[in-house]
Amino acid sequence: MIIHTIKRRLHHDIVADPILHARVLNLYLCGEAYPHQVDDYFPIRHVQCSDLASKMRNHLAEEDKHVALYSKAIKKLGAQVIQLPNDCIFNHVIRGQTANPWAVQPTDKQDQVNDRVANFLAHAHFLERRIARSLEFHLEACAQASTDYAAKAVAAVLQDEQGHVTYTAAAIYDLVPTQRAKTILASHAQSERRANLEFSAGQLKRLLFEESDRWPVQRKPIYQACAFAMREVLHLV
Ligand SMILES: [Fe+2]
Ligand SMILES: [Fe+2]
Repeated sequence: MIIHTIKRRLHHDIVADPILHARVLNLYLCGEAYPHQVDDYFPIRHVQCSDLASKMRNHLAEEDKHVALYSKAIKKLGAQVIQLPNDCIFNHVIRGQTANPWAVQPTDKQDQVNDRVANFLAHAHFLERRIARSLEFHLEACAQASTDYAAKAVAAVLQDEQGHVTYTAAAIYDLVPTQRAKTILASHAQSERRANLEFSAGQLKRLLFEESDRWPVQRKPIYQACAFAMREVLHLV
């Protein structure tokens, strides 16, 4: 309950300052653009089921649409979109915590290909879940933003992300046997838990330092303590 209250307050404090707000939208944006930075996201040509292939194509198109929505919102807040290093991109951080690579190899048999695709979808599923959770807090805070557009953009993105959460998990059970699906999901759930702590602690610490004057003085020590605590918890999970 207390974590929920702090997260809620954190997003309100972020949205209250247009530059802080733009910097956080920029973090979301970099994740949306990440599929085009790597060569193993959305392995659609290896998917045999036409319905799943179509859902994945649609998913990728929606992520591209989200880049445009966030870009426009950032500009309306009076800021510019900036390129960020990999440690500021949640997708990169989560794969750093992931043991199972999903890039299809030329020697893979069909069962192995399906297993790789299932691993990609599990990676995407937990990533999408984490983003959707974060966007729920952010959307509520957006009511006080200096532009209405941010709330409209975030609401549209959140609706799409909830669809991505659902289909990615369901498809895994069609690709691999049930027990294997559960094992894959459990493994990527653990990756997301660790990555979430690493990413949240790192980004909160960075924004508190780089935008030091933009945070409410009375709550800054609380957020600094949260960033420290998340780093410590990372050693325990
Ligand atoms: Fe997205
Ligand atoms: Fe998504």
